[in-house]
Amino acid sequence: MTDVQSTSREAAVAALAARYRADPKQADTPWNAALATLLTHRSVRAYRPDPVPPAVLRTAVAAAQSAPTSSNLQVWSVVAVEDPARKARLAELAGHQRHVETCPLFLVWLADLSRLRVLGSERGRATDGLDYLESLLVAVVDASLAAQNAVVALESLGYGTVYIGGMRNRPEEVAATLGLPADVVAVFGLCVGLPDEACPASVKPRLPVEAVLHAECYGGPPSADLVAGYDAALRSFQLEQGIAANGWSDTALQRVRGPESLSGRHRLREALAARGFALK
Ligand SMILES: Cc1cc2nc3c(=O)[nH]c(=O)nc-3n(C[C@H](O)[C@H](O)[C@H](O)COP(=O)(O)O)c2cc1C
Repeated sequence: MTDVQSTSREAAVAALAARYRADPKQADTPWNAALATLLTHRSVRAYRPDPVPPAVLRTAVAAAQSAPTSSNLQVWSVVAVEDPARKARLAELAGHQRHVETCPLFLVWLADLSRLRVLGSERGRATDGLDYLESLLVAVVDASLAAQNAVVALESLGYGTVYIGGMRNRPEEVAATLGLPADVVAVFGLCVGLPDEACPASVKPRLPVEAVLHAECYGGPPSADLVAGYDAALRSFQLEQGIAANGWSDTALQRVRGPESLSGRHRLREALAARGFALK
């Protein structure tokens, strides 16, 4: 084995061990710079104030636009927010999330059916297909794939990010704050900035591969032992972070217990209808 190969092997083993808090079972893990960026992801919620240079933003958007897009429809857009007052308002709408205010750049990723609606209207062409749930789903999938490409690009350049689903808590007010037309809705936000080294973020462990990878046919729910093992792994992460060591299963079940746990998003269908989405 060459020096480069053994260093890569060590890096791969270390990354997998951090991701699962367990010794990697596979001996032949492939490794390269792209995998290093992906496997060492961690959400960042504390930022330095340095602005994100325009070239970095444009490169991140080029990476986003390089993502696959259903039928090449490209039914998404993104709003880059740097104005402190607008960020403060969006932070409030997201449930007073401080990092939305303190990040130098806040990107709001949009499901955008208006581009095709307007084009159809200008050309006298029918766009009734946009009124179906499927079209919104296509736009949400497109926006998500695009945003995640931007995340990987930004992280590869040393920037930190965190998604903000809180943009769906009060969709009408988010739309008013960003001047969104009908047929456009915010899917999520993304805080972007250089990480504050004084508050480093750590890799959060995930469920074991066996919980999510099924061979040929769906294999059923994970065993109680597997869930208990993951609860223990997450609790040790939470203890290190100095946050409540509640583990995973109880917190996840709390999050889905009922409409009151959805931070206002239980009325998303109504909000979408108000934004022009018929959802047939
Ligand atoms: C669509 C989406 C919405 C999210 N919304 C929020 C949010 O509103 N606030 C927040 O602090 N983190 C948010 N997160 C970050 C998740 O909490 C985080 O990704 C998860 O706990 C795993 O941690 P990690 O990203 O550090 O691995 C969101 C993540 C995703 C993918």
